[in-house]
Amino acid sequence: MSNRRPMIAGNWKMNGLRQDGQALAKTLAEKLPVGNTAGFDMLVCPPFPLLGHIEAALSGSAIMLGGQDCHMRDKGAFTGDTSPAMLKDAGCSHVILGHSERRHGHGESSELINAKATAAHTHGLVVVLCVGETEKERDEQRAQAVVEQQLMESIPASATAENTIIAYEPVWAIGTGRNASVEDISDMHAFIRKTIASRMDAAKARLLYGGSVKPSNARETLSLEDVDGVLVGGASLVAEDFWAIATASI
Ligand code: PGA
Repeated sequence: MSNRRPMIAGNWKMNGLRQDGQALAKTLAEKLPVGNTAGFDMLVCPPFPLLGHIEAALSGSAIMLGGQDCHMRDKGAFTGDTSPAMLKDAGCSHVILGHSERRHGHGESSELINAKATAAHTHGLVVVLCVGETEKERDEQRAQAVVEQQLMESIPASATAENTIIAYEPVWAIGTGRNASVEDISDMHAFIRKTIASRMDAAKARLLYGGSVKPSNARETLSLEDVDGVLVGGASLVAEDFWAIATASI
C-alpha cells in the first residue's frame, strides 16, 4: 500500500442534461460532505454547459469539479473553445487533458496538450493528463514506447506531483467493456512511474487507470501498488456504481 491518497474521477463525457446531472451530483454530494473523511478524493467532470449547475449541486460537499478539456489561450476569437480561466471561474479545480477522444477524435497532438497543460497550470488547475496506446500499437509491442513518447511530449515544464495527475487509459479498453488485465495495468503503471521521474517527484505522483472500470473490477485494479485511483467514464454516470468504485479504493 502506498500513502498516496486515491483519486476517483468521473468523466461524464457528452452525457447528461441538467436534471440528470444535478440528480447524480446531489446523490454523490450527500455521501461526501465537506471535511471528507472517506479516505479518497472524488472529482466529477461534467460537460461544459452543466458546470455551473453541478457546482451548485455539489455545494456543501467535498467533491471537486473539473473540465474535460481547455484551450491554451486565456481568451479571444476561438469559437467553441473554453479557456482555463473560464473553468477556474466556473468552480473547477481540475481539467482532463489529452483524453484519447481528443487525441484521436480531434487530432490533438502531444505538443498541443503540453501547451494546454501549461496554460491550465498557470491558472492553478490540476491537470489530469491522459495517455494510452491503441490496440494496434499494443499488438505491435509498442505500448510502452507510445506511452513514453506521449508522456515526454505532453508533460509540461510546469508539472509537479501536486498539479499533474497521470491517467493511463489504453484506447482499446475505453467504453468497450474490455478491462486491461491486472498484469497489463501493473506493468504499465510501474513503467509510467519510472518514466515520469525526470519530470516530477514520481513517488508522490498519482497515477490513475481508466478504461471500462466498473464496481466488479474496481477493487482488483485499485489494489495494485502503482494505481492511485481511477478515471471512470460510463460507470460514473450511475451514482451507486461510481460510489461503489470509490469505496473499493479504501
Ligand atoms: P469508460 O471510459 O470507463 O467508459 O471506459 C473511461 C474514460 O474514457 O475516461
